Amino acid sequence: MTTIAMQINGKDRQAEADTETRLIDVLRYEFGLTGTKLGCATGDCGACTVVMDGRAVNSCLVYACECDGARIETIEGVTETPVGKVIVEEMIEADGAQCGFCTPGIVVTACALLREQGDAALSDDQIATALAGNLCRCTGYLPIRQAMRRAADQLATEAR
Ligand code: FES
Ligand code: FES
Repeated sequence: MTTIAMQINGKDRQAEADTETRLIDVLRYEFGLTGTKLGCATGDCGACTVVMDGRAVNSCLVYACECDGARIETIEGVTETPVGKVIVEEMIEADGAQCGFCTPGIVVTACALLREQGDAALSDDQIATALAGNLCRCTGYLPIRQAMRRAADQLATEAR
């Protein structure tokens, strides 16, 4: 076992991990951050998405030992940020969630994207491409994309 030091949602945390411990296991079982969901466990569904050093990653594919010194944000942290709050509001407005299993991963992915856009206008294709790794079995994607469209437009306007 190795001691891993990370910043998680702005707080310094330490965890014991062996070489096969995944980041998602540390988040869910060590720190109780169960908003990060385990779906496929193979990098295909995006339910486990977190932000690692500013980039959206699948936490089922990242070993905890790769995270020593990293800055991790989970859905619990993202939704406390200004960009995360706008995305959640628009998801609610658009009825972008049904069972909700995919929703944390989608919100986290969108947050990483929309933080980068600044005052630039994102195209529908850019939004769809960014969300391509987040699967949803319920909504048919249209309300999710509508929510992201509205959040992107609102944030770009505010940044101008
Ligand atoms: S659980 Fe990680 S991508 Fe599906
Ligand atoms: S809302 Fe059920 S999987 Fe997306």
